[in-house]
Amino acid sequence: MAALPLRDSPDMYGRVTRLLHWTIAALMLWQFLGMALRLIFGRRDFVSFFVGGHALVGTVLFVLIVLRVVWMLANRKNRPDHGDGLLGLGARLGHLALYAVMATVPSVALLRAWGGDRGLSLLGVEVFAPKAVPVEWTQTLAGAVHGELAWVMLALIAGHVVMVGLHEGMWRDGTLARMVGRR
Ligand code: HEM
Repeated sequence: MAALPLRDSPDMYGRVTRLLHWTIAALMLWQFLGMALRLIFGRRDFVSFFVGGHALVGTVLFVLIVLRVVWMLANRKNRPDHGDGLLGLGARLGHLALYAVMATVPSVALLRAWGGDRGLSLLGVEVFAPKAVPVEWTQTLAGAVHGELAWVMLALIAGHVVMVGLHEGMWRDGTLARMVGRR
């Protein structure tokens, strides 16, 4: 059997898209697990194991999401179609919304870190120096949307998973195989 191609094709997603998709999915799951535990149990010791790397994992996610958007644009004319009719339109809009929140959630948090008086250091490397005077709008923006949009994203991800389940269970049209196997 020939090796899976790097690039996407109309039949299925290639190796790069799959690697980005599943790595981002796993890291997102980690972010949400940590924040859900913090909401339920508060700032207990064991919770800090899950949330201690939140900014680091979030920054890695930011980089992967930028790569994903670039890769999506480079392959957009050569990847599986979302289909026709209302269902196809829904899939297109759903994916667009997912891309929009995926890009916004870590971006506003990084903006807040850039404009804040605490700066940002990751693994001992200073990414943003602390500002003597915080850039107020960066704090207000992230305070208003980072957490809220993140939970909206979790709801969209849940919808995405339910739709894949429907494709597999009801319509049996091989949608999942485009991202995990071969058609
Ligand atoms: C895609 C990546 C990210 C996801 C999915 C995510 C998700 C979340 C969630 C669900 C919360 C909890 C909100 C609540 O308490 O209701 C949160 C809070 C927080 N996140 Fe992130 N985050 C991401 C990236 C980042 C990055 C890159 C940073 C910093 C550089 C960051 C810093 C924070 C901080 C400081 C909080 C607590 C204050 C707040 O709720 O705004 N996050 N994040």
